[in-house]
Amino acid sequence: MALAAPNIPNPSELSRAIQDIENLDAMRSGLASSLEGRTEEPTLQTMQEVCRPVGMRARQLSQENGWQVKQIAKKYRNPAHAPDNLQSRIALARFEQNPELVGFWDRETIDGQSGTRYYRRINVEASCLACHGLKENRPQFVKDNYPQDLAYNFHVGDLRGMYAVFIPDDVKQAIQDAVNPSS
Ligand code: HEC
Repeated sequence: MALAAPNIPNPSELSRAIQDIENLDAMRSGLASSLEGRTEEPTLQTMQEVCRPVGMRARQLSQENGWQVKQIAKKYRNPAHAPDNLQSRIALARFEQNPELVGFWDRETIDGQSGTRYYRRINVEASCLACHGLKENRPQFVKDNYPQDLAYNFHVGDLRGMYAVFIPDDVKQAIQDAVNPSS
C-alpha cells in the first residue's frame, strides 16, 4: 500500500502500526495454511491455534504501544469483535464496496481521546474455510464455544472483516494508563 506522508501528529507510529498489522495478518495466514497441509486429523489444540493467537497478539500490541488494536467483523464469531462505532461500520462498508482497498486511516475520537485510526481489510483464503466455511462443517469446538457464531458460509475472496488500530495523539499517556490504570 502506498504510504503518502500523512498529515497527522504521529506518522511514525502509524507506519509502525501498519507494519505490525501486516505481520499479524501473515501470522494468521501462516497458521491457517499449516493446518491445511496436515495429513493427520487436527487435534483440538491445533485447531484452536489459528485465530485465538491473533487476538492475543493484538492485545499485546495494544499494551506495548498504547494503541487499541482490534479485529472487527460484521459477521463475527467472538462478540467482542462486533463493530464498535459508526466509523467502523462505515469502514467495513467501504472495504465491501472497494475490493481493491487494502487499508486507510482517518481521524477519530475514542473514549474522549483524539487520534488516528488505521483500518486494514481481512480477506477469506481457502485455508480459512475449515472453520469459516459451511455452517454444518465447522469444527466441534467452534459449535460448542461460540453459540452466537455468525462467522461461517464465507467464500474465498470475501471480506472477512478488518483490523482497526487506534493510535491516540497522546500515546505516551496511553502507555502509562495501560501500565498503571489507577493513576
Ligand atoms: C482452526 C479454525 C480456524 C481457522 C482455520 C480460521 N479461523 Fe478465524 N476464527 C476462528 C475462531 C475460533 C475465532 C474466534 C476467536 C476468538 O474467540 O477471538 C476466529 C475469529 C476470526 C476473526 C475475528 C473476528 C471474529 O469473527 O470473531 C477473524 C477476522 C478471522 N477469524 C479470520 C480468519 C481468516 C482470514 C482465516 C484464514 C486465513 C481464519 N480466520 C481461519 C477459527 C478459525
